[in-house]
Amino acid sequence: MAESRSFVLSTKKRSGTADHIDGGDHVVTKKSMVSSTAWDVNPEAALAASRHEFGEHGGVNMSIEASATFTVMEPETMRRMFGGELGPDRDFFIYSRHFNPTVLNLSRQMAALEGTEAAYCTASGMSAISSVLLQLCSSGGHHVVASRTLYGGTHALLTHFLPRCCNITTTFVDINDLDTVRDAIKEGETKVLYFESVSNPTLTVANIPELSRVAHKKGVTVVVDNTFAPMVLSPVRLGADVVVHSISKFISGGADIIAGAICGSASLVNSMMDLHQGALMLLGPTMNPKVAFELSERIPHLGLRMKEHSRRALAFANGLKKMGLTVIYPGLEDHPQHDLLKSIGNKDYGCGGLVCVDMETEERANRFMNHLQNYTQFGYMAVSLGYYETLMSCSGSSTSSEMNAEEKELAGISPGLVRISVGYIGTLEQKWNQLEKALNRMQDHGLFS
Ligand SMILES: Cc1ncc(COP(=O)(O)O)c(C=O)c1O
Repeated sequence: MAESRSFVLSTKKRSGTADHIDGGDHVVTKKSMVSSTAWDVNPEAALAASRHEFGEHGGVNMSIEASATFTVMEPETMRRMFGGELGPDRDFFIYSRHFNPTVLNLSRQMAALEGTEAAYCTASGMSAISSVLLQLCSSGGHHVVASRTLYGGTHALLTHFLPRCCNITTTFVDINDLDTVRDAIKEGETKVLYFESVSNPTLTVANIPELSRVAHKKGVTVVVDNTFAPMVLSPVRLGADVVVHSISKFISGGADIIAGAICGSASLVNSMMDLHQGALMLLGPTMNPKVAFELSERIPHLGLRMKEHSRRALAFANGLKKMGLTVIYPGLEDHPQHDLLKSIGNKDYGCGGLVCVDMETEERANRFMNHLQNYTQFGYMAVSLGYYETLMSCSGSSTSSEMNAEEKELAGISPGLVRISVGYIGTLEQKWNQLEKALNRMQDHGLFS
């Protein structure tokens, strides 16, 4: 069997004859079961410095470990693995609903990206969010304080599903108002403060350092959904405890995969994988290793993609504003958290790839998107984000439709809000011309002045 090679940390390679578990040249032990070896303030630098796993035959890419189950060479090893004595840090794997080497490799990349000690990937963003909330709220305290502006699915999970099924209740607040956040925390009951780094769809930027300070003073764990701003913001580096991602978006970049991740301390990830008490192990939102491999090939160019998404989003936001439209983009100086984002954002990644245009009514929003897709081929009417093509949706009637009219109003979601995930296909000039042409046509039809 060929030798496995890796930078930074080598792992024990299982021999065909015996489980060498008592030391030897190939065994490097670590304190935690899973951990990232890289930490840097720049996410791209951290990724480049993280462990690189080579293929079984010396391939530049890791081999895909497509096994559901793993052999042991000695019967005693099985008992020691199930007892927690031998784990993936020493290349001992039990079963792929538990740790899988290829999923663990992607998870190490996610941990490096977010500057966390550990991470683990899941089958979807929603499974990452629900599993981490269930894990954190499963002991002493069933209360969450959450931003009232959240992705519709997360809002529904907190409003309907968790109270009904698990007696976990949520108080929704305006996270811009720190006093309200402080007052909503019930000491001894609140376990989690939950918000999005950049909110879906209103693009409000969270003051992560201040919110973390408020929560930590009361012993509350801060969980941040960083789906809208990978590379742009690093919530854990800014004071949060846990980051969740819908990898289905920018991190994948291909609009072809549904996936998620939980990034946090090694003790959190290990507790979630616990054979008796772990939400990941017992609820089983498992990522397929073939999917993990594909995603691990995309993360190395995430930084380049985010820079280009941001560069084009800023150009379009400026252009649309000049044409007199109501534009929401954190890169514009009139955005309420523009200065905050400049002060807490990672340098060089811009202000993200999402721009919102408020067309006031759903009818005008629909006409706008129709022109952009069917008349000028600027982008596609589709939910989701982070794709190389531009995607557009009217949030109130799509990804935020789980919220009722009052909840939408409180969250600042106007019926005509069009969320645009700016792609990078084609030239910027070509795409701007398509956008301008659609708007001129709307002007000709008297749909805006
Ligand atoms: C901010 C945010 N978080 C989480 C999710 C859920 O992710 P997934 O669709 O991968 O389950 C979404 C989906 O749109 C989202 O926009």
